[in-house]
Amino acid sequence: MQDLTPSIEIDAGIIEGEIDERIYGHFVENMARSLYGGILENEKPGRINGPWKLREDLVLAAKKMKPTVVRWPGGLYADGYNWRDGIGPMDSRPLRINRYWSRYGPFTRVLDPHHFGSHEYMEFVDKLGTCPYINVNFGTGTASEASCWVEYMNGSKDTIEGARRAEYGREEPWNVPIWGIGNEMYGFWSLGNLKAREYADKYSEFACEMMQKDENLEFVAVGSDHYFNKTWNKDVLLHAKEKIDLLSIHIYLPGSERAPEVIASRLIRGSAGIYKAIVAAPLEIERRLKECVEDIGSVFGEEGPAIALDEWNLWWLPQQLLAPRWSLRDALFVCGVFHALHRLSKRVKMANIAQMVNVLGVMVAAGGRFYRTSIYYPFVMYANLTEKKRVRVDVRCGSFSSPRLGGVPPMKIVPYLDCSATLSEDGGSLSLFVINRNAEEDIETEVGIKGFEPRGDVGIHCLDAPDVDSVNYFGRDELVSIKSFNLDAGEVLPKYRFPAHSATAIVFQK
Ligand code: AHR
Ligand code: AHR
Repeated sequence: MQDLTPSIEIDAGIIEGEIDERIYGHFVENMARSLYGGILENEKPGRINGPWKLREDLVLAAKKMKPTVVRWPGGLYADGYNWRDGIGPMDSRPLRINRYWSRYGPFTRVLDPHHFGSHEYMEFVDKLGTCPYINVNFGTGTASEASCWVEYMNGSKDTIEGARRAEYGREEPWNVPIWGIGNEMYGFWSLGNLKAREYADKYSEFACEMMQKDENLEFVAVGSDHYFNKTWNKDVLLHAKEKIDLLSIHIYLPGSERAPEVIASRLIRGSAGIYKAIVAAPLEIERRLKECVEDIGSVFGEEGPAIALDEWNLWWLPQQLLAPRWSLRDALFVCGVFHALHRLSKRVKMANIAQMVNVLGVMVAAGGRFYRTSIYYPFVMYANLTEKKRVRVDVRCGSFSSPRLGGVPPMKIVPYLDCSATLSEDGGSLSLFVINRNAEEDIETEVGIKGFEPRGDVGIHCLDAPDVDSVNYFGRDELVSIKSFNLDAGEVLPKYRFPAHSATAIVFQK
């Protein structure tokens, strides 16, 4: 009879890829209360002109997630943003209608005081110790405006824009390395949307002008997953005359456009059915990303741009744009996305969760307070513990089937365990990540390691909560969290029991 004991076999001698730490990136946009009322607190509540001050305690909490890159200013907002409105003395910055988001009414932010501009963004980036990534205004702006912005950020103070920057208090160029050209240009909902070939032409014009100001930029071009447009990527890749370093893909599941179906599914299947679909959803993200990888391969073979999944998250209700109520279930989804990105590490070189605060937020802030949602903790765990080299791991375990949930298709075989193993560059540290998607049962598993002799203490970090629907809140933001402790190698090998509905990182040292 077949042996059905679950097992995890790591082979540290087989390197399957290199993980780019930029997959643990974030995104902030002037939308709803992401910036104003989120990252920034109003010192005179109710007064749109603030003064707005950075929430220093939130920045400290964000730092623990080790954010590797932060994208700004949008999103859809970017294609209506004039960067010149966001520089110079605060009292001379214009108060304008938020050109994109005002269309959805008061909740997504109608007025824009421009108090968080280039200097404030760079101050935020510096405090976080992260890498900046700016999306220019492609939809309603011009190539020349975009190239002036590059000069303002990266030019020496002998250039026209660099001199202006120095006049406003910053002599040294910031050397922002990553620049996005457009956002979701395939969608009728974006400002200035185009056909793929028109996009490719205009992209080339922008890239060409921007490069004249700084030839070392890494460019991100608009891509599309096949859910929105099946031919976009190939058309853009075939027709763009300037280099594309990264192709941007956005994936939200089950999808805000699928809200009625999600609500209906919840009524029919209850929270247990929804749980299964959501913890299986990373496999749908992986499937969609693979389609984009194939698009790139069909044009460039082994070469060609990498993928930037520069917006991703769960999203199905409008309320989630204001103050999401992420549960342990949703944290397990985030861990699953990280595993999918590890598997796709050859092609996916950046990912940015949407968004850092309030809007589908990793953290939620209101008044003078903020809290860390459940989906904050996967970042703390994975961004700190993932090592550079992805090594071979084979898993044998049971599976379940999951129902359709909006844009997440039904799946027949979803393994209960999802594993990823990474090895440090010097070979001295091995991290094994194990998600147990089983909502009811612990899974006792054989764990075997080839090509690595663990010695001494083993660090265990377990992301869990009393149950899958546990939700953090103000003053209670460690209900879903990480418990860390040490065990002796002999207590972890050859068998370890992974708790129901949890994600565990096991860190072995040599
Ligand atoms: O993250 C919220 C919005 O979702 C972004 O502005 C847009 O790019 C996407 O559709
Ligand atoms: O070191 C990574 C994480 O940081 C640990 O898992 C957690 O306990 C800490 O906050």
